Formats: sequence, structure tokens, C-alpha cells
Amino acid sequence: MSYLIPGSTPPPTDAAVTTAAAPAPATPPARSVGAVLADTQVEAVLRELDDELVGLAPVKARVRDIAALLVIDKLRTHLGLPSQPPSLHMCFSGNPGTGKTTVALRMAQILHRLGYVRKGHLVAVTRDDLVGQYIGHTAPKTREVLKRAMGGVLFIDEAYYLYRPENERDYGQEAIEILLQVMENHRDDLVVILAGYEDRMNTFFQSNPGMRSRIAHHLSFPDYSADELMQISRQMLAEQNYRFSPEAAEAFERYLGLRLQQPHFANARSVRNALDRARLRQASRLFAQPQRELTAEELTTLQAPDILASRLFQGAEGAGHA
Ligand SMILES: Nc1ncnc2c1ncn2[C@@H]1O[C@H](COP(=O)(O)OP(=O)(O)O)[C@@H](O)[C@H]1O
Ligand SMILES: [Mg+2]
Repeated sequence: MSYLIPGSTPPPTDAAVTTAAAPAPATPPARSVGAVLADTQVEAVLRELDDELVGLAPVKARVRDIAALLVIDKLRTHLGLPSQPPSLHMCFSGNPGTGKTTVALRMAQILHRLGYVRKGHLVAVTRDDLVGQYIGHTAPKTREVLKRAMGGVLFIDEAYYLYRPENERDYGQEAIEILLQVMENHRDDLVVILAGYEDRMNTFFQSNPGMRSRIAHHLSFPDYSADELMQISRQMLAEQNYRFSPEAAEAFERYLGLRLQQPHFANARSVRNALDRARLRQASRLFAQPQRELTAEELTTLQAPDILASRLFQGAEGAGHA
């Protein structure tokens, strides 16, 4: 590589005598992508993302693309090839419980390990954290949140609620304007991720072109299939040292089939909540037999009745199953 940063030309040879303590920088040796990945441990985060999250193939691919962009940017900077710092503000769109918050946490880690944010923490907020009820309250609230998020990622859930066109004096506009400024002026130390339903995000961007133009990466989170939800539930149980009996697994598959058709189905979040309820029922079932000595097997296994007692089965599938 022959490009040199202006001013980094090696000094004449006798300079070695006077500046022995601080030798002039030579052209840095070329580095590999693998070396940066290994040094920064970004590969480990990407692998965790792949292993720990079920499905989400398109999201994982986009996260990898962004990591690639950042690693290449790092290699370019290392060799003194000037470029603008990459714009990193993002939009995560998708239905509730599709993994947006979880992936945002990983993204914060990646950005931190690659040195794009100082601290790598994530501050998750909604409209109420940013917008005040009274005149003069919004700016200090928004600035306080921004101060907390500086050096990390600000995750704004259901970001479109910041914009209420039906109310022309809405204070949300004030928060949007402050955000826009900070997203531009502090882009080297704060990454903003806007999240929410895809259609509402699109409408929001149509009315807020300034926000749209500052978002460099749009990631779309698909709903999980029934198979993926089943895999997610097994994983969630295993993390807490529980498992389904074969009959319980079958019952839970049927449960998911019914639950998917209900309103307000929230993907992996609904799965988590359903499993919490099943664990409560398992505990009550075991609690009701105070004299029994309980084996590890019994303590860790959810049985079919723990699932089938769900309200969803009353009526929907006929009394035969319940
Ligand atoms: N692909 C996945 N694999 C395993 N668990 C997941 C997956 N997606 C989401 N979860 C879990 O589901 C819950 C909801 O996910 P979250 O990231 O909060 O969704 P969102 O922010 O889109 O509403 C969390 O407990 C998370 O750990
Ligand atoms: Mg969330």
C-alpha cells in the first residue's frame, strides 16, 4: 500500500537520534479481515447471534453485512485511506416479539468491539421517555435520554408515536428535531435504532424525510413460523432447566397452532409468556402432592396437562382434548 497520511512521511535518518523515544510512524503493515475479527472478538458476537437466535436468516445476514462494512472501514482507516465515518443509524421493523430488542443488544456489542461507540450499552426508550406533557418539558427530557445513551445505542421502540400529525402542537416534533440534530452531530458516538411495526415505520418515514435520510440500514424482522416457535420454546425451556415431555411437546404444538390465529399474537414473546404460565401450572400440580418426593425428572418436566389447561383449549378444539 503506497498511500500515506499527510505528515506521516518518514523523517530523515538523523531524526532517529533526536526522536528515539517516539519513532516516526512507518506505513502500517496491511492487515487481514480475520485479524480484525479476531482482535475485536466480533466473530464471537456473530457466532452467538447465529447460535442463540432461532431463524432470522435475513436479519443475521444483514448484521453480518454491517459488520463487514465496519471491519473494512477499520482496515481502510488503519492504512490511512480517508473516508467519512460510516452512518450507522438503523431501523428495525417487524411485529412484536420478533427479536428486535435482542438483536439491537448484539448490535451494540458489535459496534463497541469495533470501536464505533465508546461504551456499547443500550438505552431502550419509548415516546413517554422523550416527550413531556407540558411546554418546556420535552427538550430537557430528550436531552437527558441522549446524555445517558451517548457512547452507546439509543433504541426507540414504536418510534412513530413521536409524530402525531393529528395534533399540530404535539411536543413529539420537538423531540424529533433534537434527535435529528444529535444523529447528525454525534454520529461518531451515538447510534440510534428506531423500531416498530413495518407499515407504521414506513408511514412515519414518509412524513419525516429528515429522519428517513439519516437512517442508513433498514432491517426487516419476519414473523416466526410454527416450527421456529417450537424450536424457540424448547430453547427457552432448556435455558431454565425445563423440558417438555413428548406429550407436552405435542400439546404445545397444538397450542401454538391455535395461538397463532388469535389477535395480539406476539411471536417469541407470546411463547415466553405461555411457557411461564405452563411452569406455574407444573408447580401447582407438584405442590398439590405434598407427600411425594420429587425427582429431578419430575421437577424439570412439563407434562401435557400443564399445557392443556390453557384457556385456549376450552371450546376451541372441543372438549375431547381438555
Ligand atoms: N430468534 C429467537 N430465538 C430465541 N429467542 C428469541 C428469538 N427472538 C426473540 N426471542 C426471545 O423472545 C423475547 C422477545 O424478543 P424481543 O427481542 O424483545 O422482541 P421485540 O423487541 O421484537 O419485541 C425475548 O425474550 C427474546 O429472548
Ligand atoms: Mg422490543
